[in-house]
Amino acid sequence: MREKLEQIKKKAMEAMEALHDLDQLEEFRVKTLGKKGELTLVLRGMGSLPPQERPVIGQLANEIRTALEKALGKKTVELKEAALEKRLEEETIDVTIPGKQPDLGKLHPLTKMLNELEEIFLGMGFDIAEGPEIEWDSYNFEALNIPQNHPARDVQDTFYINDNILLRTHTSPVQIRTMLKQKPPIKIICPGRVYRSDAVDATHSPIFHQIEGLVVDKNITMGDLKGVLDVFAKQVFGQETKTKFRPHHFPFTEPSAEVDVSCAICRGEGCRVCSHTGWIEILGAGMVHPKVLEYCGIDPKVYSGFAFGMGLDRITNLKYGIDDIRLLFENDIRFLKQF
Ligand code: DAH
Repeated sequence: MREKLEQIKKKAMEAMEALHDLDQLEEFRVKTLGKKGELTLVLRGMGSLPPQERPVIGQLANEIRTALEKALGKKTVELKEAALEKRLEEETIDVTIPGKQPDLGKLHPLTKMLNELEEIFLGMGFDIAEGPEIEWDSYNFEALNIPQNHPARDVQDTFYINDNILLRTHTSPVQIRTMLKQKPPIKIICPGRVYRSDAVDATHSPIFHQIEGLVVDKNITMGDLKGVLDVFAKQVFGQETKTKFRPHHFPFTEPSAEVDVSCAICRGEGCRVCSHTGWIEILGAGMVHPKVLEYCGIDPKVYSGFAFGMGLDRITNLKYGIDDIRLLFENDIRFLKQF
């Protein structure tokens, strides 16, 4: 029995040496020292020993158990340390590896331009007003002195929803909405989306954007209009920019003008962008027609006002050198990333 015990010890010590992970070690512990382990089984057989040998063998068995337990403990610590070492090695961070570049979104050029224009007009004391894209026929046309038979009402240009309701063709109805609910002084711009049944090409889109301006107060003159538009043009296109008013006709203003800015690309010399004229048309404007003021319950003998309307898409394209309006609506990420 003594021999058998010594042999178990020797075999166990050797076997333990060969183990390399903690799971195996646990399995080994159960097999050797557990309730059904080899050592236990041997000890169970002690009953068959002569009584005087029992204590001696018992003591030896306990010594072997203690030795094995101690060795197991040591081995456990060793394996745990090795496992930790390995994990740390695997998890080391190489701080010299280049970082991942997160793909940041960008503002759409129209949004950037609109933000810039809003800043300019807010700086001049304007408020921002908004109105619905689905509009009454009467606000889009009638109130703006565009009578029933005016060519602008042609179904060719206007998306009608029914006889009285349409997709607004310009931001001018926001003038009406503002004047109907607010008494002068009024000083607003109204940016927004507008719709016209136009065929798509490099300069036309059935959806585009306008910014309307409206100032109504006592003693407002065309000089105020010129001053505001001059400041605006210089801030957008550069301090050397000049503005030019050309007589024009709009039903809702009298007198009316189309406003050109000197071409920022050739500085008035003439180039492809300005069709070799040195000037670029950017907006329509004028003094608010007395009939429009009257419609909104504002006395034209007491108050006067000016209004203007510009195409945001056109100004954006001029500013960023974009030569096709369709690019603004296609949302091609390769295009949008450039701004
Ligand atoms: N509503 C006009 C258009 O869409 C633009 C415009 C011209 C607006 C002159 C105005 C204005 O307020 O005074 O063509």
